[in-house]
Amino acid sequence: MSMSVICRWATRPAKWLDRVRLNPDGAVTIVTGASSGIGRCLCEMLSDRGATVVAVARRRERLEELRQRATVGKIIPVAGDITDGGVRESIIDVAANVRGGAVDLLVNNAGVGAIGPFADASPARLREVMEVNFFAPAELTRIAIKHLARSPAAVIANISSVLGHRAVPNKSEYCASKFAMHGWSDSLRAELAPRGIQVTLVSPSTTDSEFFDALVHTGADQTSSSIGSWTPDRVARAAMAAILARRSEVILSLGGKALVYADRIAPPIMNAILKQK
Ligand SMILES: NC(=O)c1ccc[n+]([C@@H]2O[C@H](COP(=O)([O-])OP(=O)(O)OC[C@H]3O[C@@H](n4cnc5c(N)ncnc54)[C@H](OP(=O)(O)O)[C@@H]3O)[C@@H](O)[C@H]2O)c1
Repeated sequence: MSMSVICRWATRPAKWLDRVRLNPDGAVTIVTGASSGIGRCLCEMLSDRGATVVAVARRRERLEELRQRATVGKIIPVAGDITDGGVRESIIDVAANVRGGAVDLLVNNAGVGAIGPFADASPARLREVMEVNFFAPAELTRIAIKHLARSPAAVIANISSVLGHRAVPNKSEYCASKFAMHGWSDSLRAELAPRGIQVTLVSPSTTDSEFFDALVHTGADQTSSSIGSWTPDRVARAAMAAILARRSEVILSLGGKALVYADRIAPPIMNAILKQK
């Protein structure tokens, strides 16, 4: 190999250095779970920066409030349950109508939690958590892909959890759903790279939202304690930065990083620490 070839190879721009950013101004975006918490903050941030946001959740009146506070036309509410295939079709139809079929960003954020021992829970709890947190976003993504492929800098942002990296007791259904989202995101990222679509996995730790008021199939005696919760606004700002930079994955909060990296380094120690007495 000649010296000039080696020099050209060594000085070529590294792909990760000249990564294309997602420009929110004029972008067509979809955010599920838009009626509260992280999703609501993301809708406000995206619409404030010039994006059109198809905002999805079941609580219609919350979406209407969101629409009224934004610049006219920037928030398009779609009220419905994402586990319903017809609702998913209408989300994509509405988004595809904004700019000739192209969609720039899909944020799979809607999610529910459940707390309590697996052995005592009903099969319905596992079914509901997996339907909302995994099957619905996966199927919504499947029908969005051909529209995302028409964007110059598309992103699928999956709002997962640090519990999709390290599981803990009494949240088995939730951990399973977020592990599923994690594995699926990694696979999809590799598959969609040739089509120019990035998959950004965002893993927050405990967030001070309505999440713990909306737990499914969970007794009032089941609670979860945590220190150092982030506000939804802070999580959304960090998620937004990762999305616009089209990063592959981001783990939020020091505590979250400590949990995930300690588990990667020494899983047996984490297993011993988390074992129920
Ligand atoms: N809070 C935490 O501690 C925490 C930590 C790590 C990760 N996360 C993840 O962050 C994401 C957002 O949670 P959050 O903390 O912002 O909670 P949140 O305030 O409870 O928001 C959840 C959103 O999901 C929507 N949603 C739930 N089920 C739905 C369904 N079947 N169809 C359509 N929308 C549905 C809710 O709206 P409607 O009720 O109006 O439908 C709501 O807008 C979730 O994926 C969650 O797993 C949360």
